[in-house]
Amino acid sequence: MHERIDELVAAARCELDDATDRESVEAWRVRFLGRKSELTRILRSIRELPEAERRQTGKLANVARRGLERALDSRLAGIPPAARTGPAVDVTLPGYPVRLGSLHPLTQVLREIRRIFAPLGFRAIEGPEVEWDRYNFELLNIPADHPARDMWDTFHVKDDLRPGQILLRTHTSPMQARVMEQVRPPVRVIVPGKVYRYENRDASHEAELIHIEGLAVDKRITMADLRGTLTYFSRAMFGPDRKLRIRASYFPFTEPSAEAEMTCHVCGGGGCGVCDGSGWIEILGAGMVHPKVLENVGYDPDRYQGFAFGMGAERIAMLKYGITDIRMFYRNDLRFLRQFK
Ligand code: FA5
Repeated sequence: MHERIDELVAAARCELDDATDRESVEAWRVRFLGRKSELTRILRSIRELPEAERRQTGKLANVARRGLERALDSRLAGIPPAARTGPAVDVTLPGYPVRLGSLHPLTQVLREIRRIFAPLGFRAIEGPEVEWDRYNFELLNIPADHPARDMWDTFHVKDDLRPGQILLRTHTSPMQARVMEQVRPPVRVIVPGKVYRYENRDASHEAELIHIEGLAVDKRITMADLRGTLTYFSRAMFGPDRKLRIRASYFPFTEPSAEAEMTCHVCGGGGCGVCDGSGWIEILGAGMVHPKVLENVGYDPDRYQGFAFGMGAERIAMLKYGITDIRMFYRNDLRFLRQFK
């Protein structure tokens, strides 16, 4: 039996070399590996062999079969595609559907925010994510050791020459100082970009998130302009029926300071896990630019006033699309992403 298997393998390999097109390879397959082939018959009969012979013969026959299967695969791979596809392509058959990608929901929201602010004269600019302490804190009226630094849990970048001076920006507000250092009023910009916080993640908090800063500085700008701008934004983004409320808050770089909240999209205001039971979701911090900040960048606070705001893009997208967990944005789950065409 062993000799017969060796003979079969030798004959099969020899004939396979002569098979040069798909049909002859298929005929070879049927002859040497098909259900009625001699090798298959040998494999089937192994269980009838005496115990002592069974293992060795079985092993040999299986090795022979696998060897021939591999030879078949590499022979097929060597046949040029034209010979393998056989008859001409039927061009009238429908094609395979092509699945189109779509923009990430956060990209869509960011584009919409730019569209909403453009007619008001706000130009969109970007700034560095790795930032100096001076811009992220000092120029914004938050000196070293000021307790307000606790409002932003910060990732510092290790740098032996300038210890503690370089960080991942915790908000886009450093761009307020960078812009005002460069241009004279009137100023009207929005600044979308990534910010980083050393924070625990939960349904409404991320450690890497996107902020959109807004800054308007000119003569005679008042809190009413801020309120009007935010109301216009919330109507354009969410429609006239969603409620926005503005309440007093504290930021060292604005005076007075405010926070804007929208009714929770999950419970409609009754209180749930997403809004921490309050019925409201905070979307932004804002206020009138602090005179100290204006002075720091060389503006005369007696001549110029301004308002600023900083909103969380993920929170806006959650409210707009009814998303209950902020972590969904960064999971790359196609079942989630495909819903945003
Ligand atoms: C600030 O960072 C200020 N720079 C905002 C500001 C700008 C105030 C200009 C005054 C003038 P705050 O830490 O509250 O503020 O963040 C702003 C918004 O980002 C919040 O209202 C919230 O919508 C969102 N946000 C804050 N932390 C997180 C987080 N961990 N995950 C998701 N969104 C967050």
